[in-house]
Amino acid sequence: MKIVTCVAPVNIAVIKYWGKRDENLILPINDSISASLSTDIMCAKTTIMASPLLKENKFWLNGREQTFDSPRLSNCIKAIRARCDETLPQFNWKISICSENNFPTAAGLASSAAGYACLVHALAHLYEIKGEISDIARQGSGSACRSIYGGWVQWHKGDLPTGADSIATQIAPADHWPEMRIIVLVVNDCRKKYSSTSGMKTTTETSTLVKFRAESVVNQRAKAMKKAIEDKDYESFAEITMKDSNQMHAICLDTFPPCVYMNDTSHAIVNLVHSYNEYKKGQKVAYTFDAGPNACIYLLQSEVEQFISVVNHVFPKPADIDAVEYYRGLTLPNKQLDK
Ligand code: ADP
Ligand code: DP6
Ligand code: CO
Repeated sequence: MKIVTCVAPVNIAVIKYWGKRDENLILPINDSISASLSTDIMCAKTTIMASPLLKENKFWLNGREQTFDSPRLSNCIKAIRARCDETLPQFNWKISICSENNFPTAAGLASSAAGYACLVHALAHLYEIKGEISDIARQGSGSACRSIYGGWVQWHKGDLPTGADSIATQIAPADHWPEMRIIVLVVNDCRKKYSSTSGMKTTTETSTLVKFRAESVVNQRAKAMKKAIEDKDYESFAEITMKDSNQMHAICLDTFPPCVYMNDTSHAIVNLVHSYNEYKKGQKVAYTFDAGPNACIYLLQSEVEQFISVVNHVFPKPADIDAVEYYRGLTLPNKQLDK
């Protein structure tokens, strides 16, 4: 019998991935950039047991049994096993996968990223595989390839039809920008109405704006973001982060039928950030929203105390169902996953 347990971080994109050029291989239409968050507060934890005594393969997520036959799970397992030494005894054993997220699943807080990065990382340990695995994590969920690495990470869209070059690389380690902090404001921890997968599929099929983004905006923006991170230029970083989040959600509205992920509370947070920055006469705090209403705030340590007290003032507890109510975690960029 062999048992492995791994944890993997959530990552929050500052240049968003929204749209695929290949649904099955999960190849994106543009590069994206993110930071992997500290696993101290938010993480996926996955245990895999392989044993000659197991009669069938099983997969449990957050205490509920899931089908083992989903195409994404199968693709990841197939891709990992293709790199495994077939003479290892565990190659022929059935496996039982048990995964838990310690934060809301499918609520726009990147559970698929942490979840599949963790799964693929654990599978790689189980089958004793070394080397690049971000291309395999990508086949579970696109954003998962970025959670394989710590710190600041770029997912290169790649050019090959096989997806072999659609991998993640680290731009800078977590300690490159030690003053950076992320606050997650959970507006609503329910499952989103439409998954990221289905939302971005409809976008690719129907949005004209997304073509404009892919052809004329995002490449130049990704370059400017990489430079802002390398130079630790917070003001440029903040402006690009907010603009890119806004463009992704504008594209969601340009999708037909539209996918609306942000709600009134999300928009109130956007207004609050802009008012705060206006008061401070510069971009001191930046929001970004994934496919859900919850805000991730990137800011430097020097702003944390003041910004949190403003949030507490504007969204006092006890909160309404639709107010910022769940969690005000403060989390640092994550270091490398253990290899
Ligand atoms: P999110 O915004 O949380 O990433 P998605 O719609 O992208 O939401 O993906 C949610 C899906 O990701 C879940 O329904 C599940 O299939 C998968 N997922 C989430 N967490 C895990 C995990 N720990 N292990 C494996 N798969 C996971
Ligand atoms: C808004 O990676 O969850 O979070 O590849 O279909 O699983 P699939 O989608 P997913 O999409 C993430 C979209 C996003 C932006 C981002 O993380 O870059
Ligand atoms: Co996701």
